[in-house]
Amino acid sequence: MYIILLGAPGAGKGTQADTLVRELKLVHVASGDLFRQALGQGTELGLKAKSYMEKGMLVPDEVTIQMVLERLSSPDCESGAILDGFPRNLNQAEALDKALAEQAKAIDKVVYIKVSEDELVRRLSGRWICRDCQMPYHATDSPPRVWGKCDKCGGELYQRADDIPETVKERLGVYFAETAPLIDYYTRAGKLLEMEGKGGAARVGSRILSALGEGR
Ligand code: AP5
Ligand code: ZN
Repeated sequence: MYIILLGAPGAGKGTQADTLVRELKLVHVASGDLFRQALGQGTELGLKAKSYMEKGMLVPDEVTIQMVLERLSSPDCESGAILDGFPRNLNQAEALDKALAEQAKAIDKVVYIKVSEDELVRRLSGRWICRDCQMPYHATDSPPRVWGKCDKCGGELYQRADDIPETVKERLGVYFAETAPLIDYYTRAGKLLEMEGKGGAARVGSRILSALGEGR
């Protein structure tokens, strides 16, 4: 099963990916995490991505598409994956469809998490992330049990450099101009599940699981 999580920065894609990975036993493939990992390792790819990420712009397609398709060709993605942050424009969506079709595969569902702009800004300004497993927390909505430490792996929590207000504004602009058209693209393909992203993360998670036919 290949599932795409679609939504604006801060919609809760990473948060919901954690639930879906657990419940559906699928691998989490997050383009932003792959870039941050490359950056942490100081690779050429990471350094190239950094200049775009810190401005809130999309990393060029030729770099991004190759990186994600390579990740998807690993044996652990053979029977499916949860895609988070990719595709982010029409060109990436078409490249993904083509690559899957070449292996007689296809995207099954696209979960579009809808959240108001004010709420997105509020969420990103209070977000803390685990340096080791990338689990997102929120200072007031979903704080860790011990401040500064990840509940799942004990890793150190940090705030992303691109979560400052000016960069968030730029990221939202890029989302509406380049990524939002994918809502239409996947609606036309009959794959879109539009989900209300308000309410706590657990409630949104059960909504998504029932919509995917896995609710209990
Ligand atoms: P990326 O890492 O993909 O970031 P993003 O899309 O901006 O998404 P976020 O990670 O900010 O948000 P999210 O939806 O995962 O929210 P989260 O679950 O953390 O991309 C970063 C950069 O990398 C891009 O700007 C670009 O430069 C580059 N890049 C990445 N992919 C690319 C691509 N395909 N092409 C080109 N460039 C690319 O939740 C947010 C907060 O809200 C957390 O604090 C969380 O605890 C809280 N929260 C979550 N759900 C709820 C809820 N239901 N109620 C209350 N609070 C909640
Ligand atoms: Zn962790």
